[in-house]
Amino acid sequence: MTNKKILITGASRGLGLAISKKLSSQYELILHASSKESFTTTLPNSHILCADLSNPEQVSDFCKQLKKEHGGELYGVINNAGVTFDNSLIFQPEKAIDTMLNVNLRAPIMICKTAMKIFSLSKKGVIINISSVVGETGNAFQAVYASTKAGLVALSRSLAQEVAALNEEHSIRVLSISPGFIETDMTDKLPEKEKEKYLKMIPSKRFGKAEDVAELISFLLSEQSAYVNGTNIHINGGLA
Ligand SMILES: NC(=O)c1ccc[n+]([C@@H]2O[C@H](COP(=O)([O-])OP(=O)(O)OC[C@H]3O[C@@H](n4cnc5c(N)ncnc54)[C@H](OP(=O)(O)O)[C@@H]3O)[C@@H](O)[C@H]2O)c1
Repeated sequence: MTNKKILITGASRGLGLAISKKLSSQYELILHASSKESFTTTLPNSHILCADLSNPEQVSDFCKQLKKEHGGELYGVINNAGVTFDNSLIFQPEKAIDTMLNVNLRAPIMICKTAMKIFSLSKKGVIINISSVVGETGNAFQAVYASTKAGLVALSRSLAQEVAALNEEHSIRVLSISPGFIETDMTDKLPEKEKEKYLKMIPSKRFGKAEDVAELISFLLSEQSAYVNGTNIHINGGLA
């Protein structure tokens, strides 16, 4: 166990929960969800910090609290919380558009801003933004969601370059990962026909598990991946 603290947003379910379980024996965790009631699993050595990420004021308070209470030991940030409302853009309500932009892109930007301030003092740290395969391929009825996910890839690449421009020496890394189809609440909602369509497109002949993603995150936080930086890693079973 190190004294490094790792923030995982959206840690109550799906990928965030699997990532938290995987990391809990190695790190002190700061677990985020929209509210305390979202958590049904208690993990040892963890703190809970909640905010509705669709609300900019709550995001601002969350970032202040993160810096104040955990700034000294913060080493890793996993911007994982995300939301999708699949719909044709023609019919997408403005509120749903704003929620996706705020939760999936604005909040990660603000959390990265806070982490960058903290890491610029310690000269070390890792930020991993959870993008999606659709950020690269696009997807019908996910125009806004896919845009936010493409934004996270650009955010990560840009910040990795910015860290280098601002620091002579450092071991700060900024990355994104793009999961394909992973079995969670988010993908459970899809119609069976859609799931069958995706399965046929996956050379590994199975959907991903949240634990597959947790293994990758654990590696990307570790010293073993010290030279992996400013890039986007796909984890999708070969989904074309
Ligand atoms: N599953 C996939 O196949 C897949 C593929 C590619 C990328 N991804 C990305 O991976 C990430 C995790 O996905 P998942 O499948 O694990 O999703 P999930 O099971 O639906 O869980 C979403 C998480 O995000 C949190 N969240 C959602 N809206 C929030 C808000 N307004 N404020 C604060 N927290 C909020 C939820 O917290 P509450 O419990 O409090 O609601 C929950 O912890 C997302 O960014 C998603 O876009 C997933």
